[in-house]
Amino acid sequence: MKIFLDTANLDEIRKAAETGIIDGVTTNPSLVAKEGRDFRDLIKEICDIVQRPVSAEVISTETEGMIREAMELSGISEHIVVKIPMTREGIRAIKELSGKGVKTNCTLIFNPLQALAAAKAGATYVSPFVGRLDDIGHDGMLLVKTIVEIFRNYNFSTQIIVASARHPLHVLQAALSGAHIVTVPYKIFDQFFNHPLTDIGLERFLKDWEKLHV
Ligand code: G3P
Repeated sequence: MKIFLDTANLDEIRKAAETGIIDGVTTNPSLVAKEGRDFRDLIKEICDIVQRPVSAEVISTETEGMIREAMELSGISEHIVVKIPMTREGIRAIKELSGKGVKTNCTLIFNPLQALAAAKAGATYVSPFVGRLDDIGHDGMLLVKTIVEIFRNYNFSTQIIVASARHPLHVLQAALSGAHIVTVPYKIFDQFFNHPLTDIGLERFLKDWEKLHV
């Protein structure tokens, strides 16, 4: 199970990368806009820190523009994965980019057939958005499980990134579903390490140890 960090914040990325268990980073235009930095400089710094796949999203909505942006972005670092929205134009761009060996992450996936189309076009990754589906009363994890089954049936090499995670339970469910990757905001990543019984247990161990040395 790979864990990606879903943020464009350098402090968060540095802190998470220090643990040694981060396998990549995903960003999107909203996350990048929050940082108020030059897009390309920021993405370059992220790649230098993580040295693993970093998704950076195109802004164009037409195939030619997407391909142009994708080629520019992939020149920033060998770690760049170009994020392309799941549209008819996006699928055309993914098909062409996969032929050129450019890694892609097809984003904004909300139904299994969108994921199938992206895999057929040669996407490196697909990103089903579980939280946004849950938000409107649909079952986001059911979408993930269905995509896992389809990809297994036909041996697609496209990897599934469970995106739009809202809480640690989404991470657990993603791991049980057989999805390859979950991408999480820093807040959820931080929750991996916290359990009140761990804190109480450690305090007790250290107190008992002190008694030995009085
Ligand atoms: O990377 C895409 C995903 O992070 C979107 O998350 O929380 O905006 O639905 P959210």
